[in-house]
Amino acid sequence: MRKIGIIGTGNMGRVIGLALAHKGYEVFFGARDVSKAQFASQFNNSSKFGTNQQAAEFGDIIYYSPRDIHPKEVLEDLSVLDGKIVIESGNWNISDELDAEKISVSKTEILQQQLPNSKVVKAFNTVLQEIFEHSIKDLKSYHIACFMASDFSDAKAEVSVLASDLGFTPIDCGETKQAILLEQAGSLMRILIRIKNNPWLSFSLTQLPEIKDLQLGGRMASNLHGKTDFLKNN
Ligand SMILES: NC(=O)c1ccc[n+]([C@@H]2O[C@H](COP(=O)([O-])OP(=O)(O)OC[C@H]3O[C@@H](n4cnc5c(N)ncnc54)[C@H](OP(=O)(O)O)[C@@H]3O)[C@@H](O)[C@H]2O)c1
Repeated sequence: MRKIGIIGTGNMGRVIGLALAHKGYEVFFGARDVSKAQFASQFNNSSKFGTNQQAAEFGDIIYYSPRDIHPKEVLEDLSVLDGKIVIESGNWNISDELDAEKISVSKTEILQQQLPNSKVVKAFNTVLQEIFEHSIKDLKSYHIACFMASDFSDAKAEVSVLASDLGFTPIDCGETKQAILLEQAGSLMRILIRIKNNPWLSFSLTQLPEIKDLQLGGRMASNLHGKTDFLKNN
């Protein structure tokens, strides 16, 4: 099993790290205030804790929590992340009036630029920390989506394994440029939990059985789609 380094043991770092540790992964919780990493490790005796730099050195796969903070401000030596998979789940703020921040460049693209030698994967950003409290068996039955975007297919494949091991349904949404859409989905999720005043919500993607004998005329050619029809061979 791949080793997991948590950079920034806040809410998401703690629950993802603990969920993986409970599943048998070797997990190292890192924090700038080591007592926060120690607090997380108390929930799983086999996990380790220390500084963010130590977590970055330990992990083959890194979970990076400090949103909008350049890794060079978090780590003394960035080269320890070279070649490693770096998962980030960054979302945007929602105002009291429920206005989502406008996104022109995704947090994933920025982190990938800051870590050009790492394989950054957007994942888990539409999964609220509370959801990790459910058992893996229950999570599987809910088919909760873990949307992913990255330019690195091998990295997405590895993160898919992690997501599946935790009970989620990994959904490859394409390259890093699609992360902006996942961040918009993250904003929608944050708005929904505010409207419903309920954090126990998640997105899932339902694949229905195909109906061969169409009764409603089927999909006709359309002039509205521009040059590219959204279904191939349509
Ligand atoms: N919470 C959720 O349900 C949820 C769900 C989906 C996605 N997300 C996303 O996940 C990311 C983490 O969210 P979170 O809820 O875990 O936030 P959080 O609890 O505030 O944790 C943020 C972490 O980043 C660290 N950090 C902040 N500034 C830092 C700096 N200058 N140097 C080093 N470390 C720094 C914090 O360390 P200190 O504790 O020392 O400040 C903390 O460990 C965010 O991008 C958020 O949008 C969260």
